[in-house]
Amino acid sequence: MGEPDSDNVFSVRGLRKSFGPNVVFDGLDLDVRRGEFMTLIGGSGSGKSLLLKSLLGLAPVDEGSIRFEGEELRGDTDDGFRRVREQVGMLFQASALFDSLDVYENIAYPLRVKREADEAKIHRVVCESLKLIGLPGIERMWPADLSGGMKKRVALARAVAVRPKVIFYDEPTEGLDPINVTRVNRLLLGLSRILDATTVVVTHNMESAFGISDRVAMLHDGRIIGSGTPDEMRRVDDRRVREFVDAVLD
Ligand SMILES: Nc1ncnc2c1ncn2[C@@H]1O[C@H](COP(=O)(O)OP(=O)(O)OP(=O)(O)O)[C@@H](O)[C@H]1O
Ligand SMILES: [Mg+2]
Repeated sequence: MGEPDSDNVFSVRGLRKSFGPNVVFDGLDLDVRRGEFMTLIGGSGSGKSLLLKSLLGLAPVDEGSIRFEGEELRGDTDDGFRRVREQVGMLFQASALFDSLDVYENIAYPLRVKREADEAKIHRVVCESLKLIGLPGIERMWPADLSGGMKKRVALARAVAVRPKVIFYDEPTEGLDPINVTRVNRLLLGLSRILDATTVVVTHNMESAFGISDRVAMLHDGRIIGSGTPDEMRRVDDRRVREFVDAVLD
């Protein structure tokens, strides 16, 4: 992996993080390139969710460097990470809607937090977002009345309401039936194109990872042990990548 440069939205070098004896990051390097659709794969507990949170400054690391658009982020002053959180949309794993808010208010929430948009703009964004996710007209429905697939899609709409240039999705298709997996994958690709965004997706679904990504990166034993295009990853020599990928691809 080369030197960090400004074509990378994120450049991570030498990341280390332990919880007591549990070493989660052990000198991890990763680049996220501008405009790419990257998928992060790896076993359960390998640190995928923690990595996304670390990039947003929501989980402090012990050592290492995180650059966002070329600028070094420091844990001791929160300014840099605040800028990251303003610019990066995130769909958290098992992302829950607020049950006490209807669909409209769920999607409007991040816009209200930012305090930049007036009501007319919020209304427009909510309606546009529902169209984008293929659920126009459900503004006044309540989360309790939505199916699991619909909830996921509304959560996606909320994640992109501020029209971020960089979006993280942590397991966006977890628990969905195959039709909804395909639908959500198409949606993720469509959103990345419409928003002209850089996308990082964490998934256990290898068909998704290999079907829609520009690049796939695998996290294992605290490091990125392989990264490349889906074709490159299929042909990679590393036995640990092979075993993981082969176990789920025919
Ligand atoms: N706040 C915390 N305190 C202690 N340990 C933590 C904390 N956050 C994460 N960990 C540990 O870090 C490791 C990585 O967790 P993480 O949630 O990132 O895994 P993951 O790769 O996302 O797994 P999954 O695929 O199951 O979602 C786990 O061993 C977890 O127990
Ligand atoms: Mg996780």
